[in-house]
Parts: sequence; structure tokens; C-alpha cells
Amino acid sequence: MTAPVRNDPTIVNVALGARSYDIVIGRGLLASLGARIAALRPGAKAVIVTDDNVARYHLEPAEAALRHAGVASSRVIVPAGEASKSYRVFEQVCEAIIASRIERGDLAIALGGGVIGDLTGFVASVVRRGLDYVQVPTTLLADVDSSVGGKTAIDSAHGKNLIGAFHQPILVLADTALLDTLPEREFRAGYAELVKYGLLGDADFFAWLEKNWRDVFAGGSARDHAIAESCRAKAAIVARDERETGDRALLNLGHTFGHALEAACGFSDRLLHGEAISAGMALAFEFSARRQGLLPMAEAKRAIRHLAEVGLPTRLRDIPGPLPSVDQLMELIAQDKKVKRGMLTFILVRGIGAAFIEAGVDAREVRVFLSEKLAEQ
Ligand SMILES: NC(=O)c1ccc[n+]([C@@H]2O[C@H](COP(=O)([O-])OP(=O)(O)OC[C@H]3O[C@@H](n4cnc5c(N)ncnc54)[C@H](O)[C@@H]3O)[C@@H](O)[C@H]2O)c1
Ligand SMILES: [Zn+2]
Repeated sequence: MTAPVRNDPTIVNVALGARSYDIVIGRGLLASLGARIAALRPGAKAVIVTDDNVARYHLEPAEAALRHAGVASSRVIVPAGEASKSYRVFEQVCEAIIASRIERGDLAIALGGGVIGDLTGFVASVVRRGLDYVQVPTTLLADVDSSVGGKTAIDSAHGKNLIGAFHQPILVLADTALLDTLPEREFRAGYAELVKYGLLGDADFFAWLEKNWRDVFAGGSARDHAIAESCRAKAAIVARDERETGDRALLNLGHTFGHALEAACGFSDRLLHGEAISAGMALAFEFSARRQGLLPMAEAKRAIRHLAEVGLPTRLRDIPGPLPSVDQLMELIAQDKKVKRGMLTFILVRGIGAAFIEAGVDAREVRVFLSEKLAEQ
């Protein structure tokens, strides 16, 4: 059963002209899914795309919510995990949707984490030359990051997220009670993306998280508040720079180092994306302080301390298994980024809440820094 609604939902609008939409955040909102869809697209049918983990807990309540509002629905269930962001599963989902007689004016609903959101969004961008879709995020990462902003993609043999489209949803329904069934490790990994908004642009939010993170993990109104603040931060950046020609890159704080670590671990369970981003943000803060002299080391340490306190990895030795060499890491960084005349683009910080894009980071500086960090092990 869905938990009762405790508070009025918080609504964050993503302001993108004709493509604007609301992110509705609150506990127990899933029960209102059908009524909200019927109000937005009267008479539309829906196809729910989900994975087998999420289906076990949340598919029937989602279908019941649609039924109660008279919204006809069908379902497509794919295996849980990143492997479902593949051509093969993409094709299966497209064909299943067409077979269920979904027409141009109907809707897809992504019920799941970032994998389901990215896959469903991309499917929706092409089936019948474009279907509307709704995001119903079920992981913390999806609540604060992947369900907002319209980036959709599947993976190529050459790398993650290389086949995709910008396709904004028409609604994001973030029922924060859905996170109650999420494994703690997944929740904690999503928290890294949540704290990122404080670290990149909002020192007050970071200070609030330092005080209240335990309540965010426990659920209730602190969790809802933290998710709403994160969505506000992301919505503001996306509204300024939908297609990442500028500011949106700030959301990549910690991601250059993080992606290299993730890739070095083979994108496996050894290191979840959010865990890699935590270690990556710790490295970005320390690099900014120690090698670039942009902020006092004490302030970098404050950022790192919080990540460590919630149980996220912040040091290379926190990553289980054999570590890559500095050559491997530099190669992975170069693959991820264009190196222009030995210069890399990084998101650096002048302090907590003060990230900026620096296009002239000397690759040799990065190499020296990473060699030192690897030697600390
Ligand atoms: N589009 C974007 O802007 C964007 C941003 C960040 C990440 N991403 C993508 O998001 C993906 C990662 O997303 P994720 O971390 O949500 O991973 P995920 O979707 O794989 O979910 C993590 C695991 O939790 C399970 N799960 C999900 N919700 C659950 C629930 N409520 N209860 C129990 N189990 C549940 C899933 O089945 C899965 O096993 C990556 O593919 C990444 O590329 C996209
Ligand atoms: Zn990320």
C-alpha cells in the first residue's frame, strides 16, 4: 500500500517555454499518478516501462492509480541494471509499445531509476516520431538528477550514453516513499548527487545537509526538502542551458575524476556511479585547494568530511580491489574529455558552493596530483 500523504506536495517548475513541466515532490504521491495524467492528457492511454526489481514493489500500485482515474495502461518489464540501456532492450521496448497500440497522443511512463528513465525517455523520443512521457523516479539519483532535465540515452560499445536525445518529460512525479524499498547502498550513492548541488552552488544547503543528513536518510520531511532543493537547483541550471553549451556543465562536478574511476572498475558493483562521484568530488576539491590554490585546504576538508561521514568513498583506498595506474587514469580522463594542447576542462571550486568551469587545466598538473594520491595508498 502507498504511504499516506503527510504534507502538501512541493512543486518545482522546469521553465523551458512550451516544454515546461512540473516536478511534483512528496510522500505518497503515486496514488495521484492517474488523476495527474488524466488532467494533463485527457483520454490518453499509458504504457509503464519498469524493471523487474521495481515492478515487484511499485508496479501494481502505479497501475491501480491509473485505473482509478480511468487511464488505460499496459506494461513493459525489462531486467534491472545498466545492461538494459542497450540496442537490444531498446528495440524490445519500442516493439512492445507499438504492439500495445500506443498512439501518438498516448504516453510512456518511466517507473524506475536512472536506467529506466534514460531508456524510456529515449524510446519515447523516437517511437511514432515522439511520444510524451512521465518520469516516476524510484531511486534517489533519479529523483535529484536523471529524471530532471530531459537527457535520455542508451549505451554504445564505445561508451555510456552515446546514443540519445534531449527529450523533456511532461511531468516528474517524485513520490519519496518509493525510496523506502531502495537498498541503503543505492540511497547513499544517490546522496552524492544530492550533496553535489550544495557543493557546486549553494553553501547554505550544504550546511543544512551537514546538520540534517541523518533525517534525509531516515525519510520524512527532511528527505522531501532535500530532494526539492536539489530539483530546484537542477531546474534552474537546465532552464539557463538546456543543451549544455555552458553552465549545465557545472553539474559535472566530480564527474571527470569519477568517470575515470568508474571506468577503471569496469562500471561494476565495485563502485556505483554515485560512489565514484563522491570520490571524484573529493578529488576535485583537493585538487582545487592543493594544486590550484583556489581555496583553503580546511574548506576542502570540510566538504570531504561530510561525504565520508555519510559513508561515501572519498579516498582512492576506499575503493575495493586493485587500483589503476596513473597512466590508465590519465588515459581514461583523456578519453572522456577532449585534450586541447595539453589542457583539460574541469569543474573546479573556489569554495563550498562556488564551482566554475575551467577550460585550461594543465594535464601534467592532474597527473602529478593523481600520482600523489595513488602513492598515499
Ligand atoms: N539522464 C540524466 O540526466 C542522467 C543523470 C544521471 C544518471 N543517469 C543515468 O542513470 C543511471 C543510474 O541510475 P540509478 O542509480 O537510478 O540506477 P538504476 O536505475 O539501475 O537503479 C539502481 C538499482 O536499484 C533498483 N531499484 C530502483 N528503484 C528501486 C526501489 N524503489 N526499490 C528497490 N530497488 C530499486 C534497480 O532495479 C537497480 O537494481 C545510469 O545509467 C546513468 O547513466 C542519467
Ligand atoms: Zn552523475
